[in-house]
Amino acid sequence: MLIIDGKKVSSDLKAEMKVRVDENRAATGKVPGLTVIIVGEDPASQVYVRNKAKSCVEIGMNSTVVEMPASTSEEELLAKIDELNNDPDVHGILVQQPLPKQIDEFAVTLAIDPAKDVDGFHPENLGRLVMGHLDKCFVSCTPYGILELLGRYGIETKGKHCVVVGRSNIVGKPMANLMLQKLEATNCTVTICHSATKDIPSYTRQADILIAAIGKAHFITADMVKPGAVVIDVGINRIDDPTTKSGSRLVGDVDYDGLCNVASAMTPVPGGVGPMTIAMLLKNTLQSFERSNGLQ
Ligand code: GUN
Repeated sequence: MLIIDGKKVSSDLKAEMKVRVDENRAATGKVPGLTVIIVGEDPASQVYVRNKAKSCVEIGMNSTVVEMPASTSEEELLAKIDELNNDPDVHGILVQQPLPKQIDEFAVTLAIDPAKDVDGFHPENLGRLVMGHLDKCFVSCTPYGILELLGRYGIETKGKHCVVVGRSNIVGKPMANLMLQKLEATNCTVTICHSATKDIPSYTRQADILIAAIGKAHFITADMVKPGAVVIDVGINRIDDPTTKSGSRLVGDVDYDGLCNVASAMTPVPGGVGPMTIAMLLKNTLQSFERSNGLQ
């Protein structure tokens, strides 16, 4: 079985982007800037945000983290977004989800300037993706990272049956729509399964490419997968494991060990899709910078 190494690909991508950031700096005296807003103290979000900031700095981009208290009102957050929308040194704005319950996530998504929406969550960007105008939009980072992996590994996709399990706005919906487009590394027949789907295994067993974005540890087992399928695991689930020092470890939505003799190629967790999400966030921010400076 081929291990699809997201850590390696993301590291290659970052090296490529660093060269471009340096060239752009030499040409314009400016560098891309990403601002991440985190509201409250969710520990998982704090780790993600720290990793995003670290990766920015690694490739020579500016990174700003705005920390706001859990008691922040929607109005206060929207005012901050407005300020960043109007700041020419900010090329990407990302508001880390989940948000405290007094804040309407959709109102926040709508408030971000689509030209700085490096998450690709704004309806303007998601709508362009659905309509196949990928050159003029931001594609949300996890689906974009998966597309990049399929492309770099030369996975045959044209006419294949891609089954996406999960229908979130962040992964499932954009992923399925992306695989439907007539592009290289897409052009699939697509099925979406979700929590109300009857007999999920009857669909997953038909998949040539199976994308698991459910959020449940080891949900996809060997009996649910067609021999030779390409399996992409989006899940990041923490489970108890008394044999580790911390008492827990991260696993995906796929029973990786069980599938090793069934799948033809698979992404591991960690080291598969996760690092790609960050790399594509940097790519979107770089693209935003280049668009706003007429470098494309
Ligand atoms: N929370 C978990 N993943 C993401 C992401 O990709 N973007 C944002 N904004 N929040 C998240």
